[in-house]
Amino acid sequence: MNELHVLVIGTGGTIAGTASAGLDDGDYTAAQLGVDQIVSGLAPLGVSVHTQQTAQIDSKDMSAGVWCDLTEAVLAALQSPWVTGIVITHGTDTLEETATWLSAVLPSELAHQKPVALTCAMRPASSAEADGPANLRDALLVASAPASHTLRGVLLVCAGFVHAGSAVRKVHSHRLEAFSSGDAGPWAKLDRTQGCIQLINSPDFGINCPYVTDFIEFVATDFEVLKLLSHVGQFGLPWVEIIHSHADASGKVIDALIALGPRGPQGFIVAATGNGTVHANLERSLLAARAQGIHVWRSTRCVLGAVTARADDVLPHTPLPPAKARVVMQVEIAAKSLRSRGKFAH
Ligand code: SIN
Repeated sequence: MNELHVLVIGTGGTIAGTASAGLDDGDYTAAQLGVDQIVSGLAPLGVSVHTQQTAQIDSKDMSAGVWCDLTEAVLAALQSPWVTGIVITHGTDTLEETATWLSAVLPSELAHQKPVALTCAMRPASSAEADGPANLRDALLVASAPASHTLRGVLLVCAGFVHAGSAVRKVHSHRLEAFSSGDAGPWAKLDRTQGCIQLINSPDFGINCPYVTDFIEFVATDFEVLKLLSHVGQFGLPWVEIIHSHADASGKVIDALIALGPRGPQGFIVAATGNGTVHANLERSLLAARAQGIHVWRSTRCVLGAVTARADDVLPHTPLPPAKARVVMQVEIAAKSLRSRGKFAH
């Protein structure tokens, strides 16, 4: 039998966090232990585990630069014939954005060949009841699943469940079960007693469903990803702001940002009310923004569900929640600009 090799890429987060002696679990510092230290605490798993540290941050401080370094590492591992699967340890706070970024920039043909399993923890590694080790074990099990297994591409493994990276969101500020895929539900659950994975939902589920946007694909080849990474490394990601629609909203912030002209945002995501409705004051300003070529997508501030199209829509919508939609719009603008300048041709 061929040996299974899993690459664990560390980026920081609570899974690598520690609290000083005597302090409780809520009073800790994220990103203190190296990924090799986290991995060395696990009992042997029958898998060769290799480690690489691409960042060591509290994920609230996630940046385009870290995403580029992480993507390069993931791309190399996807292309390596000896890597069976990839695990990424990450803070919970912006994990859904990193999962969306990876789903958007990794060519699906390549990403669908192996699991790219993000994992995390809600309690620091120094906690007497740390959840990181069990989550990491689960992620290693998913990442070393046989090649025939359907769990491929960008995933989140947390609290005994496997979610699609494109659908998952952090929905609770402190429970161990902090993530949900909303109406789409998780793809699989881990049976920790038997050490096996039970599929509860086919990854194909929801292909036409507005709640799951799997592989929002803007690049098709590894060449294009590298072009995109080099562009983002040089210029950063396009400026896209999230604006909330709420009672007594005004369009003043949008008007001020539009007035910046080419130095202003290239896009707005509206965290709209209900099924994408927008306060009339805000809508006026958003229409003015569109008239100047600024991208506008309506998302919803509702925790569940997604905006669906209506005959009288005057602004485009997205089925993604605001934080995920923002990342997708940034990648789409950057990729379109490279394509229009012939940078993707080879
Ligand atoms: C972080 O997101 O890095 C800190 C919080 C967490 O991991 O739960």
